[in-house]
Amino acid sequence: MAKNNMPVVSFLFTLIVVVFLFSHSVHCNRNRNYAASSFLSSYDAQEVGLSKGSPWPLPRIFQPSSEIYFLDKLKFEFVPRSYKCDLMIDAFNRYYKLIFDLNDVSSANSPNSRLIFKSHKIRNEQMSSYNNILNVILMNPCENAITLKSDESYVLNVDTKNSYLEAKSIWGILRGLETFSQLVYVQNSQFAVNRTYIKDQPRFSWRGVLLDSSRHFLPVQTILKFLDAMAYNKMNVFHWHIVDDQSFPFQSVFPRLSQMGAYRPYTHVYSRQDVAQILEYARVRGVRVVPEFDTPVLGKGQMYLLTQCFSGNQPNGNFGPIDPSRNENFNFLQEFFKDVASAFPDSNAQQKSLVLGGEACLWGEYVDSTNVHSRLWPSASAVAERLWSDESVRDIADADRRLREHRCRMLRRGIMAEPGTGPGFCEEEMVL
Ligand SMILES: *[C@@H]1O[C@H](CO)[C@@H](O)[C@H](O)[C@H]1NC(C)=O
Repeated sequence: MAKNNMPVVSFLFTLIVVVFLFSHSVHCNRNRNYAASSFLSSYDAQEVGLSKGSPWPLPRIFQPSSEIYFLDKLKFEFVPRSYKCDLMIDAFNRYYKLIFDLNDVSSANSPNSRLIFKSHKIRNEQMSSYNNILNVILMNPCENAITLKSDESYVLNVDTKNSYLEAKSIWGILRGLETFSQLVYVQNSQFAVNRTYIKDQPRFSWRGVLLDSSRHFLPVQTILKFLDAMAYNKMNVFHWHIVDDQSFPFQSVFPRLSQMGAYRPYTHVYSRQDVAQILEYARVRGVRVVPEFDTPVLGKGQMYLLTQCFSGNQPNGNFGPIDPSRNENFNFLQEFFKDVASAFPDSNAQQKSLVLGGEACLWGEYVDSTNVHSRLWPSASAVAERLWSDESVRDIADADRRLREHRCRMLRRGIMAEPGTGPGFCEEEMVL
């Protein structure tokens, strides 16, 4: 991962590290080469418990203590002390729910339809001198959308007198709120948080996941849930392999491309509103969406675009790459990419910038909305930690405890993360 600058021709070539986590072939699944499982496998047989209130990925400087404060759900407040904006207020609402509602039996049921969690009955007594306020100090006006140059660092201090979260950018505030939400756990029917000091920043600015919506169509709701999970793991680039040979679900100004190329022309497509919704959902979570359009696949809906293959003198029904002998094809591509750029305004700027980081890549051939979350998480969480935490973070037993807690945390938040760390159980899991 060289740190020297290199010019970037196209975003397809920009990734310095692409982490191929998942094999698309079934018989390879047994030795999937993902970091978490291989380095944790030797611990499978041991009784290793879950951590309580430990963050994932591990912050740069993490100084917890054994002093516990109890939070009062009804009194707790995030208080902006400097700049504020809609992005911040939205995030306060999201994280208040993640911290308090998902753990509390008196609130809405678990969002999880297949797994039932036993919620805690929370007592709301003032048990400590904690003042139930997290001061949020944003030192600059909110940026509109995250870029590779954005600052995601933050300082989070939880103690009795002055609990604060401070950051130079709204993205640091979002990452810090995620961490704060992970510090809170339930202890003796109370919301507990330990006195903690954290100073954190990512190791890399490109921390991505590739999803493929061409080999199998992924409904918008599945993609939104995936973006939630990315935020829970502080990942910031959704590399959207949106179209390919198998299907063309993107509705462009050339309607035939998706009408003829999608699995179903009306149900298995992303309308412009769908794309806009996904971009906005990602934006407010500090995630960039980088679309990947592979040109040979445009063929089905555009006559004469691809080169015909012949057997003898007869076209044999097969097609090769885009036919370069037809000038119309160049005009078509120009118009098409102009259109793509108007749907994904961020992708132009990003091509020009420099990239440093990596991606967890998920082959789409054997994945659809039934298994995409469980196949990705918590495996991709291991990649998230490699890309966020310092390179010196290598304590396997500690990672095991934290990843187990993080997997249970994701389940509680409605992400169907698989039991990627071997035998064990989540405390709140209910036996049916
Ligand atoms: C919080 O404090 C409790 C009780 O002292 C301790 O058992 C636990 O390990 C601490 N949690 C963290 C994340 O340090």
